[in-house]
Amino acid sequence: MATSSVIWALLGVFALFLTLSSADNSHVLSYSPSDLHSQAKLVSLFDAWNMKHGKHYTAAQKLEKHKRFHIFRDNLMRIEAHNSKGSTFKLGLNRFADLTQDEFKQSRRLGLKLPSVKLGSLRRRSHFHHKSETPMVTAESLDWRTLGAVTPVKDQGMCGSCWAFSATGAIEGANAVATGNLVSVSEEELVTCSSESGCDGGLMDDAFEWVIDNGGIATEDNYPYLSYSGSSGACDTKIEEEEKAVSIDGYADVQPYSEAALLEAVAKQPVSVAIEASSWDLQLYVEGVYNGTCSSDPYDINHGVLLVGYGSENGVDYWIVKNSWGSSWGDSGFIRMIRNGSPFGICAIHSMSSYPIKNASSMPLVADL
Ligand SMILES: *[C@@H]1O[C@H](CO)[C@@H](O)[C@H](O)[C@H]1NC(C)=O
Ligand SMILES: *[C@@H]1O[C@H](CO)[C@@H](O)[C@H](O)[C@H]1NC(C)=O
Repeated sequence: MATSSVIWALLGVFALFLTLSSADNSHVLSYSPSDLHSQAKLVSLFDAWNMKHGKHYTAAQKLEKHKRFHIFRDNLMRIEAHNSKGSTFKLGLNRFADLTQDEFKQSRRLGLKLPSVKLGSLRRRSHFHHKSETPMVTAESLDWRTLGAVTPVKDQGMCGSCWAFSATGAIEGANAVATGNLVSVSEEELVTCSSESGCDGGLMDDAFEWVIDNGGIATEDNYPYLSYSGSSGACDTKIEEEEKAVSIDGYADVQPYSEAALLEAVAKQPVSVAIEASSWDLQLYVEGVYNGTCSSDPYDINHGVLLVGYGSENGVDYWIVKNSWGSSWGDSGFIRMIRNGSPFGICAIHSMSSYPIKNASSMPLVADL
């Protein structure tokens, strides 16, 4: 009796170990192509997906459930068509699998707000002539995640606050590179204190300017994210005045429409970038090097994210990008995107990049005490 309970306990530990070690993209529901030919199998896949994502439908929501099932099935057909034709990236039944592309676009998971001034300067920039350049970067690959400059993936929820997540990621990176300390800082402070539009969108450079003017930004722990469902509260002015855990000294814009300039920037630290992020294959992206149907027109950029590295796989060059859609989207919350040598880059990723400047000398001199 005692022996069998020990065995059961060991089996439990082993099962837990299996669960943890396969945690990577376990948010993606797997299916087999034959499931697509059976209505019963499709229904049970949909039920399993709902269970995985904590979605429940009451009897009164029967019509809505029916509608979601049809969208889910259509997405699955497109996923399978894409995956079977062979490309550098895979799609799958991730957390957004029951949304149409339009619904996804409207769901405020983006949030880059381009003022007309910025659009005007984009237009002027787009008339630049681009000579081909050779980047002054020596390393073949670089991943700031393995160098301790990237915090775990966060989730902006249904709030158009991508700009705040992109900015905090870049500030966390600049601070880690300058001081050796990786400190997660507050999007909620940016959303509630720095901007009048909050969940209605913003710009990373405005966030950097605010942090400079404010003399710093609070930690994630002291000012946690609460705008997940789409409404942001009032600024906590006490925290705003008293908690300046991380400061920056300035910020710089990367020369637009230059892959070489962006590569040089990310060789120094993680960089805030803007992309066009409303394509269906980005919505359902799971892994690999994305080379999909997003727009590469700089006028279409609508989402702020964080560039955290670059590399090359089977002769295909890529960027490593941290998103703010939680770890149950994409490759545990990240996406690799092709570096294709085009002027605007995949999803116009070369259009509007910037990073905070933190002088190494401005780090707190705790060691002097
Ligand atoms: C990326 O997509 C384009 C357009 O579909 C295609 O021409 C190109 O070969 C693809 N690149 C790779 C590396 O698959
Ligand atoms: C940071 O460095 C820049 C460039 O060297 C300098 O102009 C600026 O005054 C410095 N700022 C602080 C706060 O030390």
